[in-house]
Amino acid sequence: MMRYFLRIYGDPVLKRKCEPVDEIDDEMKSISEKMFEIMYANDGIGLAAPQIGVLKRIIVVEVEGKSLTLINPEIIWQSDETEITEEGCLSFPGIFTEVERAKRTRVKYITIDNEEKVVEGEGLSARVFQHEIDHLNGILFIDRISVAKREMLKGELEALKRQYRKRKYVL
Ligand code: NI
Repeated sequence: MMRYFLRIYGDPVLKRKCEPVDEIDDEMKSISEKMFEIMYANDGIGLAAPQIGVLKRIIVVEVEGKSLTLINPEIIWQSDETEITEEGCLSFPGIFTEVERAKRTRVKYITIDNEEKVVEGEGLSARVFQHEIDHLNGILFIDRISVAKREMLKGELEALKRQYRKRKYVL
């Protein structure tokens, strides 16, 4: 039985590209439940599978009061208009920085009941979809900011990496 826990920056699993899900079985359902559990326990509004060590294309989000599991999500359209807003990530506790993202997105995905759907997002919802889908490609929010901004966060990022190295050996 695999133990799922929140992975933090420094964990190499966060830089890997995830594989598509080809079958929605009971294991997928329990992974989705576990993801919601970890997301809510940490006051997040989105979580991607690699953040709990699972290299599969699955994300969970809480947008506009709805909890959604998106399997094999794909951005099929996004607006040219962008928005710069401060965001954080459960894998980077305490770190917040402004990230520029498309203001509106349209995402195609498969539900946990194996139905194909499309969801539109604007503002915060669009941001959550883009942030979580990035995770499935090993892209982190700090990869979307300027070198100068990343330089400003350097100390905090190094501290997180040290924390990860320590945590690795906790039994
Ligand atoms: Ni994140």
